[in-house]
Amino acid sequence: MKKITIKPVQRLKGILTLPGDKSISHRAVMIGSIARGTTRIRNLLDSQDCERTIDAFRMLGVNIKKDKGEIIVEGRGLRSFAKPKGPIYLGNSGTSMRLLAGILVGQGFNCKLTGDKSLSARPMKRIVKPLKLMGAKIKTNIEDSRPQEYYPPLEIQGKALRSIKYKTDVASAQVKSSVLLAGLFTNGLTTVTEPAASRDHTERMLRFFGADILVKGRTIFLRPGELRARLVDIPGDISSAAFFLAAAALNKKSRLTLKSIGLNPTRTGILRLLRQMGAKIEIVNRRVKCFEPRGDIIIKGEVLRGIKIKGDIIPKVIDELPIIMVLAALARGRTLIEGAGELRVKETDRIFSMSSNLRMLGADIKERKDGVLIQGVSCLTGAKLKSFGDHRTAMSMVIAGLNTRGTTVIEDAGCIDTSFPGFMNTLRKISD
Ligand code: S3P
Repeated sequence: MKKITIKPVQRLKGILTLPGDKSISHRAVMIGSIARGTTRIRNLLDSQDCERTIDAFRMLGVNIKKDKGEIIVEGRGLRSFAKPKGPIYLGNSGTSMRLLAGILVGQGFNCKLTGDKSLSARPMKRIVKPLKLMGAKIKTNIEDSRPQEYYPPLEIQGKALRSIKYKTDVASAQVKSSVLLAGLFTNGLTTVTEPAASRDHTERMLRFFGADILVKGRTIFLRPGELRARLVDIPGDISSAAFFLAAAALNKKSRLTLKSIGLNPTRTGILRLLRQMGAKIEIVNRRVKCFEPRGDIIIKGEVLRGIKIKGDIIPKVIDELPIIMVLAALARGRTLIEGAGELRVKETDRIFSMSSNLRMLGADIKERKDGVLIQGVSCLTGAKLKSFGDHRTAMSMVIAGLNTRGTTVIEDAGCIDTSFPGFMNTLRKISD
């Protein structure tokens, strides 16, 4: 399996454009597939996870092709899919499985959704529960050791659905989106209320494609109706940018410009936290394209300080918490991350994966049930680390490795390709 060796760098310098946002890429393919007409997608993330979503819709009979750097999706409307010839395999991608389930429960056929070892261990009750309330028929896997949870594979029997008023138990964009997409196959008003705001790309994209959708505070109201194809232009992924922002923030001699990065307020928590830790960040060239804000981020390194991270910001930085742990390990003082139990059910248990790796480098980090307590140290020492099969753990540890004494090795780092196949090459371009 792919092993990465990292040596410390002097500084990071340069201008980068990054691959398209992963969450928006999945949604563009899905919503383009259920819309009527030809949707063209620019800057779609070319990664394993997004390839799974494309393959899934191809299996459902949607014509999706690449043309001069664009992805062309020939959508034929909400109920135009063909019954797939076999199980739909979604690899490592939780977003593909949870959102696709919301679309498939309303179709007129049966199908089965499967995933890799990591996805097969991820909780599905959070979507199965509301979808069943809507009338869906879903059979799941139940493990003897954890009988209260449901796991993939999902065996879906297409049914007529009814609309519901639903309050989600967790602030999860995947749950919210699954219910909203299923809401398109009902004949009434679907309402979803979240305990805290999670990323709102589904709401924005549905509106962009012409859906009857309204957002009031933490509640979304959706009425069914046909969607119309659009030209979608996807901004750079702020979650991928986070690794470079962190790398620059850790080094006083660094200065980076990241161009055309998504600045959706439900995703920019990382910028707020970096500023609180002391990093110097400037945003220029702000604009809105396809219902999503974007801009260029300029960052300069500084001496960082520890902070408290808890409450409503957690869902807005949920994918960035691993790299924030790396920053905290080298910041002055203490960082406390609290209320982030969701990290335990990501592609791996990221509280455990990050704590054990950072400890190997000499960091002072204590695991809590729903977070970590980190006391910053002045330097880390290179060691042999594990990816735990998780792309964000692997990339976070690469950035940590740039700031150690000695060499760091990350084993089994091929998982980086799930969200960012060119990550190491991009990093080399800006390393001095
Ligand atoms: C995602 C939502 C988040 C995030 C994941 C992508 C999405 O998960 O962690 O990487 O595209 O909707 P939850 O909504 O379950 O927190």
